[in-house]
Amino acid sequence: MTTIDSTTAESTKSQPRTVPPFAVISGAQVQHALRGRENQIMRLVEATYRLHGAGDSVNPPSYFLRFPDRPSSRIIALPASIGGQVRVDGLKWISSFPENVAAGIPRASAVLILNDHDTGYPFACLECSIISATRTAASAALAADWLSRGRPRPTRVGFFGVGLIARYIHTFLARTGWSFDEIGVHDLSADSTAGFCAYLRDYPKDGQLEQPGTAGRITVHERAEQLIRSSDLVVFATVAGQPHVSELSWFEHNPLVLHVSLRDLAPEILLASTNIVDDIEHCMKANTSPHLAEQLTGNRDFLHGTLDDVMAGRVTVPADQPVVFSPFGLGVLDLAVGKYVYDEVGRCDELHVVDDFFHELRRYG
Ligand SMILES: NC(=O)c1ccc[n+]([C@@H]2O[C@H](COP(=O)([O-])OP(=O)(O)OC[C@H]3O[C@@H](n4cnc5c(N)ncnc54)[C@H](O)[C@@H]3O)[C@@H](O)[C@H]2O)c1
Repeated sequence: MTTIDSTTAESTKSQPRTVPPFAVISGAQVQHALRGRENQIMRLVEATYRLHGAGDSVNPPSYFLRFPDRPSSRIIALPASIGGQVRVDGLKWISSFPENVAAGIPRASAVLILNDHDTGYPFACLECSIISATRTAASAALAADWLSRGRPRPTRVGFFGVGLIARYIHTFLARTGWSFDEIGVHDLSADSTAGFCAYLRDYPKDGQLEQPGTAGRITVHERAEQLIRSSDLVVFATVAGQPHVSELSWFEHNPLVLHVSLRDLAPEILLASTNIVDDIEHCMKANTSPHLAEQLTGNRDFLHGTLDDVMAGRVTVPADQPVVFSPFGLGVLDLAVGKYVYDEVGRCDELHVVDDFFHELRRYG
């Protein structure tokens, strides 16, 4: 590590400032650091929502880079800063190229940059598709727990859109105390359906945490209506760009809906439900279903609050309405999980540092 002499540094402070070493953390290292830690990560995500709710974070709007020649694709920048004990700044830079899936590679790819709180120096670049899927699944499992407290705990789950995110959410639910009698599956793609069902039948593949064969009865539903009507916990994880579910009567059994893909439900469904989000300003953008509901009604009266409001007891969720959780996905969650991974890899003395990454360190040569 290179130390900058504080007596000659431009902004002299009592503490010497140091340029941190720059580390690169691979997806394999990320996966190793997170595997089997689902409960810990869910608690970390919970603490991060509370910190964000208390204002100890900076989380500006995400920036969507779109391309006229590739309209279905995008790259999103999520800058953020988090206080508390984590105290780190950074940026997630995540691509979504849905056509990748037909070519056999994942839709999303991402890196996370962590910046040092005191000097601003970037000190790590982490593979972030796993971190992103992990924090999304942890947030979904956390919401499932909190939002089902005032109603019978769901025993029939339905997965609507079954790609990588659905798999992560299932794993998180299973490893944070959920078990289901029935697992419903619905997807437009036969390949996705077959792949997800194979994953469910094999689960758990790599751990001793659960007994194989405890997955519940798996049913593939050809029609969306069947899936929703037969599930009391519905997980949307499609790549739909606009609402395709608009029939109110499908929700008359008042399910808990984790609307992770954000754009599946027609505004009319939201207007007849209790709506909980992760961050109100964030969710009212980018043509999400809550954004469409706001445009339709001209107000935000249909929003009941944030998950932090529910956790703090400021909002209670009635049992006699569907409840829809629409999480926009906050950069602070990526930072918190990314910093956890960085600390874990460092603790195991396995950080791959790029020597001399920051090289021009003397102001006058
Ligand atoms: N809110 C968040 O924080 C957050 C974070 C990460 C990902 N996401 C979202 O989760 C979604 C899923 O991501 P993924 O990586 O699993 O994608 P994926 O491409 O791996 O899987 C998506 C699946 O949805 C299916 N699908 C598409 N349209 C459908 C429809 N109308 N009905 C049924 N199935 C349909 C596809 O066939 C595919 O199998 C994406 O929309 C992504 O943006 C949200």
